[in-house]
Amino acid sequence: MKKIIGALLVAWIGAVSSNCYSGSEVEKLSPELRALLKQEMLAIQEGMQNIVPAFASGNLEEVSDIAGKISRSFILKQKITDTQKHELHEKLSNEFILKDQEFHKYAGMLEHVSKESHTELVGFYYSKMLESCIGCHSEHATHRFSIFTNEPAKKEHHH
Ligand code: HEC
Repeated sequence: MKKIIGALLVAWIGAVSSNCYSGSEVEKLSPELRALLKQEMLAIQEGMQNIVPAFASGNLEEVSDIAGKISRSFILKQKITDTQKHELHEKLSNEFILKDQEFHKYAGMLEHVSKESHTELVGFYYSKMLESCIGCHSEHATHRFSIFTNEPAKKEHHH
């Protein structure tokens, strides 16, 4: 009986900690895909940084250009093999993929509203994109950004 309870406990702790430590889904990717993901992250970060001076100087055309590049930067749309696509869908949760899609959707919206010179919406979608960085990192990249694991707000999810 004790053995069974012990085994159950181990299984339960395993399930709970894999829930909390959801960064591990990304860590399971092959080195090639992980390198691509990091490359994409650095590219979108650079894009986000470059949007600031473009927006501040009123160059909405440039904002639109950069946002368009970000929206099409999708790791899922890159020249990866079918096997790699399969691997992404296999190893990443739907939730991760939805967050990624949402981020790219906001980038597409930013491309659109800056092309149409809707200045107030440019700020709106830029902030939506920034929120997406944190929304995803705090759930799926705590292995990289461990500061999120100490956030009081997040602890409520850790039963
Ligand atoms: C849908 C999820 C998701 C979104 C949205 C997202 N990231 Fe990430 N990001 C990740 C994951 C996962 C990692 C960790 C990758 C790894 O460890 O292989 C990461 C890592 C990074 C890194 C570190 C790369 C390195 O060299 O290790 C940077 C920088 C970064 N993200 C910037 C951003 C910025 C800026 C945004 C928003 C404009 C953003 N990310 C939006 C998931 C996301």
